[in-house]
Amino acid sequence: MKPFPRPIIFIGLFLLLLLQACGPYQFKGTLYEDPPAAADFELSRSDGGRLRLSDLQGKIVLLFFGFTTCPDVCPVTLSDAKRIYEALDDQAENLAYLFITVDPERDTPEKLAGYVSNFNENIIGLTGTEEELAAVREDYGIYAAKVPLKSGIGYTMDHTARVYLIDSEGNLRLTYTFGTPYEDILQDIKQILKEKESR
Ligand code: NI
Repeated sequence: MKPFPRPIIFIGLFLLLLLQACGPYQFKGTLYEDPPAAADFELSRSDGGRLRLSDLQGKIVLLFFGFTTCPDVCPVTLSDAKRIYEALDDQAENLAYLFITVDPERDTPEKLAGYVSNFNENIIGLTGTEEELAAVREDYGIYAAKVPLKSGIGYTMDHTARVYLIDSEGNLRLTYTFGTPYEDILQDIKQILKEKESR
């Protein structure tokens, strides 16, 4: 049998690459196989009033748990939130970013509101009673614990650093580990918005 002429092989490879490029979108975050309905909750907005998660249906929700005196993980994560909002530009209204405190003792509503708006005015700070916050953490499998410090600030908090993505239908779709580039989260958001538009 005569070997295929080279140009045919090249064209074949090219078509194969093209086919892959047109394949289904590969999400960057960790996907839930059967997206469960995100557990509903109601907490207090740091800028006043109450917020119920289910009232945000129609928007993509990013959920993150942290505290305002966090030295590293929280400021880095919220800096990414700021970049995501800036990059979304006129689509920013389709995203609700919720920052739920794990340190309500020190994170007063005023402190929390000032902290989140410093990153981006769209980020919503949430707090509640110890019981309310513990229930939300349990529903989302969030770890948070005080770690005593010898220095003046008394203690720091150890906490889960994962970001949760809830889609516009209210289903838990994806999670992101700390250190995921914000561009990855942004691409996933844009993909979900595209899916929504094409329905
Ligand atoms: Ni933190």
